[in-house]
Amino acid sequence: MLIVENKAINPLISPKPSEAKPDTELESLRIWGKHPLSGHVHISGAKNSVLAIMAGALLCPQHCRLRNVPSLADIAKMRQVLEALGVKIERHNDTLELDTSHLSTSKAPYDLVSQLRASFFVTGPLLTRLGTARVPLPGGCAIGARPVDLHVRGLQAMGAEVHIEHGIVHADIRGSGGRLKGAKIYLDYPSVGATETLLMAATLADGETIIENAAQEPEVEDLANFCRAMGAKIRGAGTNTITIVGVPNLHSVDYGIIPDRIEAGTFLVAGAITHSEISISPVIPEHLTPVIAKLKDIGSEIVLDGPNRLRIIPGELRATDIETLPYPGFPTDMQAQLMALLTLAEGNSVVTETVFENRMRHVAELVRMGADIRIKGQNAIIRGVSHLSGAPVLATDLRASAALVLAGLAAEGETLVQGLHHLDRGYDDLETKLKGLGAKVQRVSP
Ligand code: EPU
Repeated sequence: MLIVENKAINPLISPKPSEAKPDTELESLRIWGKHPLSGHVHISGAKNSVLAIMAGALLCPQHCRLRNVPSLADIAKMRQVLEALGVKIERHNDTLELDTSHLSTSKAPYDLVSQLRASFFVTGPLLTRLGTARVPLPGGCAIGARPVDLHVRGLQAMGAEVHIEHGIVHADIRGSGGRLKGAKIYLDYPSVGATETLLMAATLADGETIIENAAQEPEVEDLANFCRAMGAKIRGAGTNTITIVGVPNLHSVDYGIIPDRIEAGTFLVAGAITHSEISISPVIPEHLTPVIAKLKDIGSEIVLDGPNRLRIIPGELRATDIETLPYPGFPTDMQAQLMALLTLAEGNSVVTETVFENRMRHVAELVRMGADIRIKGQNAIIRGVSHLSGAPVLATDLRASAALVLAGLAAEGETLVQGLHHLDRGYDDLETKLKGLGAKVQRVSP
């Protein structure tokens, strides 16, 4: 369950161990399929919560302790971004200690921001702390163009002067008294990132901010709870209208991150696709409602074994249709994994991706493994096949790589998933967790 403590903490800054993993771009995962899984998996903290919350820590010029932080390449990158801004960070197992008392620059480095879109989150906190921010446009990525117009328009509505020059977003509030002003902001789309940027910026603004058509994702709520634990006044996070009353300053905090609903969902699919009964914890079951509903449609039973523990009892796989939507709709971050499952379901399924324009690149790789999938626009039409065959396949983005690992677990023979750096961005030691369930997998270097 969510643990939020709110207490002053001591600085704990000692020499920095290297958190970054070796470059895994050339590494592959060899999977010997058709081995039944059993047992229990521990679910790590939510990547997308941590990324926003690390930026949120900049709002308070003191110490901040984050617990239940997974060990991921994206988090190591975010750490580098914050360190480049002057933040001192120390990691002890799954705890991050951040000393944000000194920010040495308002300029986020291009080479890091271009590698991690989430680093754009530093814009709002930098503005509130330093009155100015220079953050490169994060650019597109493997799953789509992903503009930041909604973040920028919201900051402008709060009184920031924002212009984009040579690919750098320049935001300034020094001309308007050095403080953002509360505003009523309607988002054209319930963007997770824009909601988070504006929520953070509004915590220290002058007056009340109302974000309408806000994203309702659990990670937005987690960020809001983190900010509230620092003294921010926020209500409505987790609904489509969030109200933030600005306060003059925020204080030190010790905060536990929620479990990762996408990692949890991925392991439930691992149970379904290998016809194995496995249990996962800790989870917040309601965060998985749309995923559980689809797994039930497809033939599995999901049992609540305790307040934060789920067990999947697999059944015969049946076709279903899935459309990705903002929360509480079906998450785009589970689309590829469910598609892998549907390749083996009896009948025809249609999977429609509405959130990102280019998130079907796993289809060609699943087809290499014997899946029968056709793409028509944003729809993938899947005709269930009786079996998949192991093959060398290339991971093209984070969730695509998870889908290929899942397909490999169910396929006959050997699958080699290449491009493991994508997987390492968002799954905390997936192969060790899979081995713990009895899967035959091995990381191989070239
Ligand atoms: N969009 C705009 N303008 C904006 C912002 C977004 O047009 O200013 C569009 C995007 O291009 C996209 C759609 O709105 O088509 C949704 O984008 P959103 O802003 O909601 O997503 P995000 O904040 O960039 C986060 C997660 C993603 C997850 C999405 C949707 C983080 C760090 N990333 O991205 O996570 O898919 O929300 O739930 O929180 C992943 O973990 O694999 C991942 C991609």
